[in-house]
Amino acid sequence: MHFNIFTLFPEMFGCYFGVSILERVQAMGLVELVVHDIRDFAHDRHRVTDEPPYGGGGGMVLKPEPIFRAVEAVTGADPARRGPVILLTPQGRQFTQSVAQELAGYEQLNLIAGRYEGVDERVRAHLVTDELSIGDYVLTGGELAAMVVIDAIVRLLPGALGAEGAAESDSYATGLLEGPHYTRPAIYRGWQVPAVLRSGHAANIARWRREQALRRTWNRRPELLLTAPLDEEDRFFLGRLAEEIGGAGADSS
Ligand code: ADE
Repeated sequence: MHFNIFTLFPEMFGCYFGVSILERVQAMGLVELVVHDIRDFAHDRHRVTDEPPYGGGGGMVLKPEPIFRAVEAVTGADPARRGPVILLTPQGRQFTQSVAQELAGYEQLNLIAGRYEGVDERVRAHLVTDELSIGDYVLTGGELAAMVVIDAIVRLLPGALGAEGAAESDSYATGLLEGPHYTRPAIYRGWQVPAVLRSGHAANIARWRREQALRRTWNRRPELLLTAPLDEEDRFFLGRLAEEIGGAGADSS
């Protein structure tokens, strides 16, 4: 999968792209991450990329020419052959796990990191095909948001994570939050790892994990239970949980 990232601050990406899974998927040839400096496409003498807004008001607005030029020079002039052009902006549609899954199906994605007060509206209207927000807060620019989006997509690609299928049990992939994890030692400061996890009984472990995921989702993000795929056994467990909580109050796990 090929990513083009258009930014005024290419140096922000080097560290994140150079370690851990993002470094590995590039070394494996699974992913190409190419960062383009929008300033390189500003052809005036001072390489100006932003100007004050027409009509007055504070802040600066990113000019259309360098952004159009950058995207067209890198991806070609034909919009049909370049994959989605995504602007990172707090006004975009909410980025979620299901949007990550949707975008993981493309061969090429082009991400534009906005800055300052925003980008000239003609970029949105005539170049951009999608707009994403990573949450209801305002960052100083879209670079962090672009890294978040890329990270969430890349780890979904087959072969990206060490153990094949590891992304499938992630929180949100199942529609539920994941339950607790434990590793050695079996007893730490007197706190024990639940016996079922050490029992070696695969079916009991799977059931316990499922119930822990249901419990945690109930406690922290109950609205997810409205849309998560649940079977008979899950519903029965949730019924018991409701009784337990009605009686004794929720434990906060
Ligand atoms: N740029 C600034 N804030 C942002 C956000 N919340 N999501 C995406 N891009 C942004």
